[in-house]
Amino acid sequence: MDDTAEETEKKDVILLALEPDTLPEEQLDRVRDVVPDNKELLVTRDRDVIEAVIDEIEIAAGWFPRSRLPRASNLRWFQQWAAGADWLLRHPEAVEMDFVLTNMSGIHAIPVSEHVFALLLAFARELSPALRAQQHRKWIPYDQHQHLFELANKTMLLIGVGAIGERTAQVAAAMGVRVLGIRRDPTVGATGVDTMHGPDQLHDLLPQADFVVLTVPLTPETQGMIGEQELRAMKPTAHLINVGRGGVVDEDALLHGLRQGWIAGAGLDVLETEPLPEDSPLWELDNMIITSHYAGVTPHYHERALRVFRDNLERYHAGLPLQNVVEKTLGY
Ligand code: OXD
Repeated sequence: MDDTAEETEKKDVILLALEPDTLPEEQLDRVRDVVPDNKELLVTRDRDVIEAVIDEIEIAAGWFPRSRLPRASNLRWFQQWAAGADWLLRHPEAVEMDFVLTNMSGIHAIPVSEHVFALLLAFARELSPALRAQQHRKWIPYDQHQHLFELANKTMLLIGVGAIGERTAQVAAAMGVRVLGIRRDPTVGATGVDTMHGPDQLHDLLPQADFVVLTVPLTPETQGMIGEQELRAMKPTAHLINVGRGGVVDEDALLHGLRQGWIAGAGLDVLETEPLPEDSPLWELDNMIITSHYAGVTPHYHERALRVFRDNLERYHAGLPLQNVVEKTLGY
């Protein structure tokens, strides 16, 4: 067979950069069902295998190595497996490239909103001291719980009202929490949110909140949005929860604020530097709960993500607009 014949047999590749053994077979079959005959679906995270077909990749999904994007010269669409697209800030070359980027926004609503309440309830029900006491087989007498509080009848300021924020608002409302929302376009309401505001009202709203919950992506606008001034504007009894991105909070200011009692506590699932370095003083604060960026993790992740990908794959081949397109220059 000569080279030209081999050339014509080459199929464009749809790369699903995930470990095949971790994927639910039924959902994967449903993706296979919508792969056209002239394309090949490759499911692998093996870097050598990806390297060997890099020029033939038309569609990539999953954990495609970002540093290799500039070499994927035929890439037309990249379906990333996470919601946050802040990696674009570190790879500006990808912003210029001629491929459409879609994200997994929407599939995190259940686990991340549940994580928000896990953190809030951990503070409300003094779980950190209880766990520390349990490790030492120590019984805390009932009259020594000085910091218990109820969520009901409190006010939550929700900064970022996308799918995660909206579910958080609904659960909060069901628990009797009043929810103030901040979103870029405050004319769009959301169930569970009592009143919606624009970002310019942040400083007026902070003093009203018992809980400030951040679900915003990291963009040039949200970077460092919560710093000393904002923390000082909060009630000394208030709690800050961040499940968006670490860079939204100025961690030096937060450290200082938690030590000085500007606010009562903070629950962070996301940190400016991940993993948080072992010698970070943030680990040592009693009024801080740190979880290692796993709020979005759920046993249902791949199943939900494959559904989004399949739907987009069908749209792509039908020439329809894709869902969850990231505006690359805005970063979300
Ligand atoms: C995401 C996350 O962006 O889990 O998907 O943080």
